[in-house]
Amino acid sequence: MDYTSIKKLYESLALKNEFICVASHELKTPLTSLMLQVEMVKRFMDHHGADAISPVKVKSLINRTHQDVLRLSRLVDDMLDISRINSGKFTMNYEYFNLDEFMDDFLDKVAYSQIRKKINAPILVKWDKFRIEQVMLNLLNNAIRYGEESQIDVEVSVEDNLAFITIRDYGPGIPMEMQKKIFERFERGDISKSEGLGLGLYISQEIIQHHKGKILLESEIGKGTSFVLQIPLT
Ligand SMILES: Nc1ncnc2c1ncn2[C@@H]1O[C@H](COP(=O)(O)OP(=O)(O)OP(=O)(O)O)[C@@H](O)[C@H]1O
Ligand SMILES: [Mg+2]
Repeated sequence: MDYTSIKKLYESLALKNEFICVASHELKTPLTSLMLQVEMVKRFMDHHGADAISPVKVKSLINRTHQDVLRLSRLVDDMLDISRINSGKFTMNYEYFNLDEFMDDFLDKVAYSQIRKKINAPILVKWDKFRIEQVMLNLLNNAIRYGEESQIDVEVSVEDNLAFITIRDYGPGIPMEMQKKIFERFERGDISKSEGLGLGLYISQEIIQHHKGKILLESEIGKGTSFVLQIPLT
């Protein structure tokens, strides 16, 4: 084995190790929370009987466990995507759909009152709908999570054979030296604010590259951040 192959192997082992480390740590948080809640209810029922739990309590319990289950399932989905990317099995299912209808549906689904939308694109695209939605969801989640609850603008426009989807927040911005790095695997800026594996942008970039597009980033400290998806219509 030559030097480069050994180096490659070593890097891939180090990456695997990092992956297991970060993933198990992130999985642990919602799992612990779930376990505590279930144990609490179990103990209560053992003492007072199953009938003694009020519907209000059940509702709040379900809400909290639902959050944890969603978070767990999202983490596992991201891990699956990463292993598909690594093994070259990350494939797209392209289909024709209407871009403005898709955007309207998407924004209806995400219940965030601070979104201002400007969509002017009654146009047919041939993309993997599910994967593009995944990218949008990650960018929007990031804008909400790291944008410190600022206003968020979503804009769609079309020029020649390209669609431009912009997601802009007016949050703290991303330092210049971080801007390139955040597209890498496991790269999380401020760990105290991140709830994920630092895979969102990496997976998004993969998806957009499969569509022969680009993700452009513009950010200024104190002013905010915009991510622009530039994707060929078909
Ligand atoms: N709109 C934004 N404003 C400020 N910082 C951002 C913004 N979007 C992303 N970042 C920074 O980029 C980092 C990487 O983002 P990415 O979506 O890849 O991972 P994550 O959000 O930390 O975790 P995951 O997406 O896997 O849940 C974030 O941790 C954050 O520091
Ligand atoms: Mg993210």
